[in-house]
Amino acid sequence: MEKRSSFTGRIGFVLAAAGSAVGLGNIWRFPYLAARYGGGMFLLTYILLAVTFGFCLLIAEIAIGRKTGKSVICAFASLDRRFSFLGYLAAFIPMIILPYYSVIGGWVTKYAALYVTGGGASASKEGFFSAFTAEPIEPLAWFAIFIGLTAVIVLFGVEKGVERVSCVMMPVLVVLTVGIAVYSLTRKGALDGALYYLRPDFSAFGIETLLAAMGQLFYSMSLAMGIMITYGSYMKKDISIVSSARQIGIFDTGIAFFSGLMIIPAVFSFSGGDAATLNQGPGLMFVTLPRVFEEMPLGHAVGAVFFLLVFLAALTSSISLMETIVSIIRDKFHISRRLACLAVLLLALLLGIPSSLGNGLLDSVRILGLSFLDFFDFISNSVMMPIVALLTCIFVGYVIKTGTLTDEVALNAPFKEKRLFHFVIRYVAPVFIVLILVSSILNTFGVMTL
Ligand code: PHE
Repeated sequence: MEKRSSFTGRIGFVLAAAGSAVGLGNIWRFPYLAARYGGGMFLLTYILLAVTFGFCLLIAEIAIGRKTGKSVICAFASLDRRFSFLGYLAAFIPMIILPYYSVIGGWVTKYAALYVTGGGASASKEGFFSAFTAEPIEPLAWFAIFIGLTAVIVLFGVEKGVERVSCVMMPVLVVLTVGIAVYSLTRKGALDGALYYLRPDFSAFGIETLLAAMGQLFYSMSLAMGIMITYGSYMKKDISIVSSARQIGIFDTGIAFFSGLMIIPAVFSFSGGDAATLNQGPGLMFVTLPRVFEEMPLGHAVGAVFFLLVFLAALTSSISLMETIVSIIRDKFHISRRLACLAVLLLALLLGIPSSLGNGLLDSVRILGLSFLDFFDFISNSVMMPIVALLTCIFVGYVIKTGTLTDEVALNAPFKEKRLFHFVIRYVAPVFIVLILVSSILNTFGVMTL
């Protein structure tokens, strides 16, 4: 078996991990959650959670990976045999997410291609999005293109593929996001939107703000599914875990922040802050934004840049999903990277088909009242990820003890936030996670509406 590959340095590691974290979660999900859950209040809650909870969990996962040098299944098993089940549980999550994430990635690819080839006007037509996703063949084809591209990059291996792509993409992404945010802020009426987004209105705070922000944090930082463990296993011992985690967090939260700033004021400017438009949810990006672009001067060019940006962000995230699965399979079955890639590609293609057809041919098929795509999203994000995060905290806090990881973290640089880490992992995180888990399940079954 080939030698385990590793990132060439800290910048490579940070960019690749940030490439995984920054994705559809930041650009598409974060703005619509912020718009829905009280703007500034949501933003503030999210940032507070990110610097405490997100930061600590990120450090814990990277440290587990680097300490063991293994991907998720073997990592937990080598620290404590009794917890190998946790590795399997975590490993399962990317396998569920990759197919449906790539289906959405395919939609984004379609939009990017449409805008780049000058067809942006049609995307703004009433019913365009629902007609496109209801069609059987075309979305499937875009899905196959998106996931095929992911597989090709993963095939080239960690330093040649993932790292090189991330090194080019991430800086471009930052420039584009900030650029569009600035552009969007100069629109007439955008200022009200900016105020709504930036000024916390404490009366808008509620348990649901906290829960929505918390769920978003896991998803956005790619936590609780073995991804950061895998990436940590590729990290060299002389690189500081704390400053890497800090930079990844800043990157991820920064892109989410600017995505909100490019979408919310723009939507305000064109709708006058109408509550129904703000509450649009998942459709905000695919349905409202093309209309916004249509009315903007230079809108088609801005639209092309925007969807290209989302495409790049989604691609780096799907790369991390596939890389994690490939790495797990190779550690387990000792097969070549090429064979593992092919197997994962075929499986994901197969599993993605129901999600892709869920808005059209299979529209009537529901599991627990959810379409295939929503079901996979729910099972992974609202059920499995909180469970894995909870068990990880219990494992680190009470089984191997935080000291095992703080020693690893302190190998090359003093770990100043050690006490915060200990406190969050042992006490704060477990309580919060149980809250999310219970509420999100109640929410989905309609017992409680958030
Ligand atoms: N963190 C990614 C995002 O914000 C999503 C993602 C989830 C990526 C799970 C990998 C794994 O879009």
